[in-house]
Amino acid sequence: MNAIETKIRAALSEAEGKLAAAVDAAAVEQVRIELLGRNGLFPALSREMGSIPAEERRATGALFNTGRTQIEAWMEAAKERLNAGAAKQAAAALDVTLPGRRTGCGHKHPVSIITDECVAIFRRMGFIVAEGPEIETVYYNFDALNAPEDHPSRDPQDTFYFGDGRILRSQTSPVQVRVMESHQPPVRIVAPGRVFRRDTPDATHGMNFHQIEGLSIDKGVSMADLKSVLQRFATEMFGEKVKIRLRPHFFPFTEPSVEYDFSCVMCGGAGCPVCKHSGWIEIAGAGMVDPNVLKNVGYDPEIYSGYAFGMGLERLAMLRYRIGDLRYLYENDVRFLEQF
Ligand code: DAH
Repeated sequence: MNAIETKIRAALSEAEGKLAAAVDAAAVEQVRIELLGRNGLFPALSREMGSIPAEERRATGALFNTGRTQIEAWMEAAKERLNAGAAKQAAAALDVTLPGRRTGCGHKHPVSIITDECVAIFRRMGFIVAEGPEIETVYYNFDALNAPEDHPSRDPQDTFYFGDGRILRSQTSPVQVRVMESHQPPVRIVAPGRVFRRDTPDATHGMNFHQIEGLSIDKGVSMADLKSVLQRFATEMFGEKVKIRLRPHFFPFTEPSVEYDFSCVMCGGAGCPVCKHSGWIEIAGAGMVDPNVLKNVGYDPEIYSGYAFGMGLERLAMLRYRIGDLRYLYENDVRFLEQF
């Protein structure tokens, strides 16, 4: 055996071992570079071939060729083995007996649930739903609602002004004006919607909350109608036992004006921290629509009268679901929201 044949045999036995043990494609490639690559062993031996005696050249050449083919075959086998292993691993990673992953299912926000309930209750009493823009004008939000020039609610500390006569509405009351401007009596609407105030957020205040406004205008509408509608609403919302009471108050757009309370839905009126031991919970404002507001929309206050009311929807949601802090409603923590 000449020197070249010795080298080929040594290389073959080493390559067989390395390829059988290869754990990745890089190891296989390394063997190819060392033996068959341009600077590898086989091309080098091929250049040495001329140095051996002519009578040996044939046998050495044959060994050279079969050796190279053999290495290629082992490389192929090693690659196949590695591929099969990877496929097997991938198959093992998919366990079809595991239970499926549940995807969370969205549902209504508590304020939306309460809004829908309010609307449903008032629809049963003959109200229809009206809407108005969230970006309002000073005229609709204040002037047409008879708010005096120096009314505190106009203060830029309380209302967001754009500086061009437009504001973010601070109440849903302007919807009353828009509806009356475009419709002749009888009018019977509720207007749920988003309102904005420059409040510092705390447990009971937000810069952005929701109200529902009510308005009923016709011939001969009285305070007794208002009271019965509010009592019906209280009963449907919080149950048979809830009573209401009206207290004198002031709003620019109603005369007389009242605030109305529900007997405490937590303690039933006995007194608890939620009602500050008074037995009553303030719900919102209402009153008989001021003749000035009716005149502003072209209604004759000698012929028509009506009542209006407005209440905060977050407040109702908090009472219904016993939520102690308004901010929970807007943090969007799924652990909180999931409960409704
Ligand atoms: N707009 C009032 C507010 O935001 C609530 C209100 C009071 C609405 C009396 C009315 C009403 O329609 O008659 O505080």
